[in-house]
Amino acid sequence: MNFKCYFVLTLLLLIVIPGKAQDNQSEKERNERIEWFREARFGMFIHWGLYSATEGEWKGKTTPALGEWIQNTLKIPEKDYVTLVDKFTLAHYNPDAWAAMAKNAGVRYVVITSKHHDGFSLFPSKVSDFNITLTPYKKDPLKELIDACHRQGLKFGFYYSHRQDWHEEAASYAKKEYNNHFGKPKNQVKADLDKYIKEKAIPQVRELLTNYGPIDLIWFDTPLDLTKEQSQAFVDVVRQIQPKCLINGRVGYNLGDYGPLGDNEIPCCRAQSDLEMVATMNNTWGYKKSDNNWKSPQNILGSLLECASRGVNYMINIGPKADGIVPQPSIDILNFVGNWMHTNSEAIYGTTGNPFNDNFPWGYVTRKGHDLYLLLNQKPIDNKIVLKGVKGKLLSAKLLNDGKLLKTDFGNELYIRVPLLDYTKIPVIKLSFDSMKELTFTPKNFEYEGIIDIPAVTGKAVSVSTDAENEESVQNDFIGMATKGKKGIRFATGGYTENFNGKTGKLMFSCEVDAPGKYEVRLYTNRHHSRSFTEGTQITLTIGKTQFNHILLKQNAEIANTRQHSYPDSWSRVGYVTFNKSGEQTLLLSVDKLGRFSVVGKVGEDLTREVDNSLRLTKIELRKVE
Ligand code: GLC
Repeated sequence: MNFKCYFVLTLLLLIVIPGKAQDNQSEKERNERIEWFREARFGMFIHWGLYSATEGEWKGKTTPALGEWIQNTLKIPEKDYVTLVDKFTLAHYNPDAWAAMAKNAGVRYVVITSKHHDGFSLFPSKVSDFNITLTPYKKDPLKELIDACHRQGLKFGFYYSHRQDWHEEAASYAKKEYNNHFGKPKNQVKADLDKYIKEKAIPQVRELLTNYGPIDLIWFDTPLDLTKEQSQAFVDVVRQIQPKCLINGRVGYNLGDYGPLGDNEIPCCRAQSDLEMVATMNNTWGYKKSDNNWKSPQNILGSLLECASRGVNYMINIGPKADGIVPQPSIDILNFVGNWMHTNSEAIYGTTGNPFNDNFPWGYVTRKGHDLYLLLNQKPIDNKIVLKGVKGKLLSAKLLNDGKLLKTDFGNELYIRVPLLDYTKIPVIKLSFDSMKELTFTPKNFEYEGIIDIPAVTGKAVSVSTDAENEESVQNDFIGMATKGKKGIRFATGGYTENFNGKTGKLMFSCEVDAPGKYEVRLYTNRHHSRSFTEGTQITLTIGKTQFNHILLKQNAEIANTRQHSYPDSWSRVGYVTFNKSGEQTLLLSVDKLGRFSVVGKVGEDLTREVDNSLRLTKIELRKVE
């Protein structure tokens, strides 16, 4: 090695090693912080504020959008909005009842809006007069709730809208509200944002972290156009005052302790990182009298199980009324979930999600060490469950509700004989494997009940051209979700492809076919609820020797999934393929041309057509038809 080499090596060591050590250290700290969150799996969100007092109506008009956005949507002038303090009475507020309700539902942590986008603080604040002391309630409801939650052994977090604050001119954001409350064009006030952050947002976060003892989680929202430095300033203040407090992903720029997902977005496959899915019971977060579109209790329970099977936390929202009364349907839903949790919660707490690549037709799988839990929402064909690619020593298979042992047969594949069950109750089978023997799962896409489900994330990017350098996606996605910077095809936290277009390469998949025959080939994509299905997209797919060239994707059906209504899935038929023999098949997918979507506006509003920048693939599915 010559001198030059030594020099370069030393330089490299100097640069790389301290960085690595720091990374390891911060990852170690993150792992310690997030331990309770991984164990908890189930949380309860509370949206409560002045908007609750409008019940979703203003001067006889019902807001067409989310309850907590009413000021913005209906352009309520600030001078009128502030009068709502008289109606925010909290007359029947019973924090102990809320905490007990959460606890009985099986919830392990509670997060409440300490200040939402309207800028009103639910706590006495020295920083801003626009706070709870203006209301008839003379106490600090957040302090009372924390104490009540702690009495129930629940973890506690504050939601804090760190970028939007419609009470402050400098922190207003959405166009619609601009010409309304403040009458100034956006570019004239934007420069003051830093001042708002320094003088209101950060000092209030400081108050929240200083005045209430240990806080387990700070939940930021809508980073919008914050700079990285501004997001970092929020992280810094939390770390400085309470280093053990978790920070959610919506702080921006992936600076949180866990990744962000959209509202009501269930990832379509196993999560690749720590995530939390936040969900509404109807369509709104803040109380809205006219929103009676309640999801069924079975549906909400289904979301909890689906999230757990993806390795994702589930936080379900309640929107109490201004007097503190929780809508009855919310109470009923929480009771229903609690009932199931009472018998089966060990299949949720501390689990790590489905270890197989596959989704199963009969329900979901979670795992805890050497135990697997099968959560059955449907009868398996012939009352027989098959699991492929698992190796280990099975000790027992039993029903969680009555401990009854089930018959099994474990050769190459594991067969479990299922007795007559009431699938509306989502029975759970616990499989216990010997912890002294290795338990492994072959990461293949197998066929189950005639369906081969091939999640997008199991694809490998191939033939990336040198000009794959695509423009970086920007951070200021509405809720701070867009991943940044990585070239080529990548996967969103929700599991669908990002940056997948003609320039960024192809995706290669493989799957195992059980038996020769004819299969229908379907391609699944999802969309953001504010966009239409993308029309005009063309793909080329090769399966073994069969080529589907330049197939124009049509929307054959949109999947009615009320659970993840913010990200509807559609499937498109690519064609039919015939396999002459069983065994492994290779698939290669490329995008020839991207189509256009419409921005879905309100009725009567002009729709803007935009060219898409990526095929949002969630999975490919092969369904045996003959
Ligand atoms: C969105 C909305 C906000 C709501 C939040 C819940 O960011 O702007 O009103 O509180 O989602 O996740």
